[in-house]
Amino acid sequence: MLREIAHFVWNAPATLRLKARLPQEQLYETLMDRADQAGLADHRRALVADLAGDVLELGSGTGRMFPHYGADARVTAIEPDARFAALAEEPRRRAAGAITTTIGSGEALPFDDARFDAAVVALVLCSVPSPAAVLGELRRVVRPGGQLRLIEHVRSHRAVAGWLMDRVDGAWLRLNAQGCHLNRDPLPEIRAAGFEVVRTAPFQVYSAGLPAFPMRAITATRT
Ligand SMILES: C[S@@+](CC[C@H](N)C(=O)[O-])C[C@H]1O[C@@H](n2cnc3c(N)ncnc32)[C@H](O)[C@@H]1O
Repeated sequence: MLREIAHFVWNAPATLRLKARLPQEQLYETLMDRADQAGLADHRRALVADLAGDVLELGSGTGRMFPHYGADARVTAIEPDARFAALAEEPRRRAAGAITTTIGSGEALPFDDARFDAAVVALVLCSVPSPAAVLGELRRVVRPGGQLRLIEHVRSHRAVAGWLMDRVDGAWLRLNAQGCHLNRDPLPEIRAAGFEVVRTAPFQVYSAGLPAFPMRAITATRT
């Protein structure tokens, strides 16, 4: 835990200067470039490279997942923030498979029931107002037996670290200004929504400007 705290404190001044200088979407791109180079991109690829058929990506942001889909995936990406979605255009054009993007949010997905073979959610459940509502919508639009694949940062299962994350969540919320909570655990809500969790893989990424949150790559099946 000391290493995580030192990492955060050491990088905080430069990140705050960057935050004062850049619009939100450019700040996101800068920090995500670093995180992807530090190893997050490998986890993104492992999450989706084998997906085929109709795939929904929720909260696609600036298109950071787009390079990692294979040619057999037909991806429909939905994102509420138009500034983020605009930056996703270039990765969309360069993607191996067909990707269409639309503006919208996870609480009311504009798709028929059981329309998708899989849904992908990367770093989104931390910041939606109601993970349960979004997961309910995801279950509705994924066909029975279809897959839900997620990368999420989570509340630490270690007692002191988890306690500390609860204490600083309010400050982190004000700092990131994107509704991101650092102390959520999506697994119980994924199960409660009607998915069977079949795999969780823990990992951590140390990159300048982002906390080294405990992360999980999660695979679940729609029951
Ligand atoms: C941390 S970013 C992750 C972006 C992208 N998935 C990635 O991996 O880089 C969180 C994204 O979730 C989106 N988001 C926030 N609330 C949402 C909601 N209610 N429904 C869908 N997306 C949402 C944000 O606009 C943002 O693009």
